[in-house]
Amino acid sequence: MEVLNLGMVGGGTVGSGVFHALQQNGALLAARIGIRIHVRKVAVKSVEEPRPYPIPRRFLTTNWREVVEDPQVQLVTELVGGTTVAREVVETALRLGKPVITANKALLSAHGPALFAEAERHGTNLYFEASVCGGIPILKALREGFVGNRVTALYGIVNGTCNYILTRMTQERADFQTVLREAQQEGYAETPPDLDIDGHDAQHKTGILASLAHGHWIPADYIAVEGIRAITPLDLQFAAQLGYTIKLLGIVKQLKERARHQGEVPLQVSVYPALVPSDHVLARVQGVYNAVFVRGDVVGDTLFYGRGAGKDATASAVLSDLADAALDVRLGTRRRRPAFVKGPDAVRVVPLDDVVSRSFVRLSVIDQPGVLARIAAVFGRARIGIASVIQPEGHTGEVVPLILMLHEAPDGAVRKALDRIARLPVVKAPPVRFRVESLT
Ligand code: NDP
Ligand code: HSE
Repeated sequence: MEVLNLGMVGGGTVGSGVFHALQQNGALLAARIGIRIHVRKVAVKSVEEPRPYPIPRRFLTTNWREVVEDPQVQLVTELVGGTTVAREVVETALRLGKPVITANKALLSAHGPALFAEAERHGTNLYFEASVCGGIPILKALREGFVGNRVTALYGIVNGTCNYILTRMTQERADFQTVLREAQQEGYAETPPDLDIDGHDAQHKTGILASLAHGHWIPADYIAVEGIRAITPLDLQFAAQLGYTIKLLGIVKQLKERARHQGEVPLQVSVYPALVPSDHVLARVQGVYNAVFVRGDVVGDTLFYGRGAGKDATASAVLSDLADAALDVRLGTRRRRPAFVKGPDAVRVVPLDDVVSRSFVRLSVIDQPGVLARIAAVFGRARIGIASVIQPEGHTGEVVPLILMLHEAPDGAVRKALDRIARLPVVKAPPVRFRVESLT
C-alpha cells in the first residue's frame, strides 16, 4: 500500500489527539483511502511537557524546521496555535509545495487569503476542517453539501468553552471562574482563554463560516463581536422566566427587509450572546457541544451537532482533512478543491447599528416612584417600544433590578438610548443588554 509521511508541528491537546487517533484508526483510514499515513516526526516546544495522549520520545523534536523541511515529509499538520510560529510553519510548508492541515482559526482569520494564495502559487492546498466546530464536518457541508444552495441564514453555537460555561452557570448556578478553569483543564479553551470568553474565537470561526457560505472573504473587523463576560446568573434566571436561554451565537444572515442594493446581498455577520427561545433546538445544545443551524434556499433548514472542542473530536476533523490531502496528493489533483472559491453574488456586511432586533435589558435602579417613567420616556423619545417589564419582588436594598423586553428596533438606536439611560441619576450600574433571536 502507498505510504505518505506526515510531519506534525504541535503535539498538545489536538496534536496528541491526532497522534492517538492515527494509532487507533490509521489502519481503518488506510483501508478506506488506500493510503497509509505514517507519522514521521512531531515538533513540540518542550519534549518533557506532559501530553493528553503520550507521544513516544523517538518521534519528538523541538525544531519544527526539521519536520517541515524534511524531504521525506509529504504532509504537514500545524497544530500549534497563534499567529506567529504557526504562520511561519504554514508558509514554509506551502512554499515547499506540501499540503498543510491546520486547526488554527486565529491564523486563518488574520491571514487566510494570503495563505490560500500562497498555497495556490505553489500548487498545493491548505485544509482547515478542524478550525470550526471541532468534530462537526461543517466546512465540508458548506463547501460540498450546500454547493447547490444560497445560504440565507446560519446560526452557530461555535465556541465550546463559552457553551460549557453558560450551561454550567444555568444548570448549576456555577461560578464563572471555576467553570472556566474546568474548561481549561479539559483542553477546550484557547491560550489565553480571553479569546473564547470575549467572543474572538467565535468571531474567527463565524468569519470562516460566512466566507465559505457566501464566497467572499469576510475580514474579522467587519464582524461585530461581544463575549459572555457581562452575563450574570441573574440574566440567565430572568431570561429563563421569560422563556429564553442565553447562548453565544455566531450569526450570518441575509437581511430580508433590505432589498438587494446594486446586486449586493446585505448580510448581518456578528457574534453576541443572544436570548433564544428555550424550546428551540439550539437552546438545548449543552456543555462543550456546538451546533450550526443552516438554512439553504433549496434544502430548507438543517442542523449540525457535535462536540465543538477537545482532543478527540478535533482529531476526527484533522483525520478527515488528512484523508482529503492524501488523496489529492496521490491523484495529483492538488488544486481539485481550492480552499476558498469566490462566489457569484457580491455581499455587503451591514453595520450592526442598522440591524433590527428585539432586546432584553437589565437595569440596576433606585427603588422609588417615577423611575420607570423616566426610563420609558427615554425609550419613547427614541421610538423604541417596551414589550414587557419585570421588577421582581423580594429584592431589598436601595438598588433593584429592572428587566425590560424591547420591541424590534435598530441596534444603534437601542445603544444610544441605553447610553442616555446610563446617565440618569436613578440608574446605578451600566445597563446590560442582550439581543433576542427568534431564529425564524
Ligand atoms: P496546545 O497548547 O495544547 O498545543 C500546542 C502545541 O504546540 C504543543 O504541543 C506545544 O508544545 C506546541 N508548540 C508551541 N510552540 C511551539 C514551537 N515553537 N515549535 C513547536 N511546537 C510548538 O493547543 P491545542 O492543541 O489546544 O490547539 C492547537 C490548535 O488547534 C490551535 O490553533 C487551536 O485554536 C486549535 N483548536 C483547538 C481545539 C481544542 O479543543 N483544544 C479545537 C479546535 C481547534 P508543548 O507540548 O511542548 O507545549
Ligand atoms: N477554544 C475553542 C472552543 C476550541 O472552546 O470552542 C475549539 O475550536
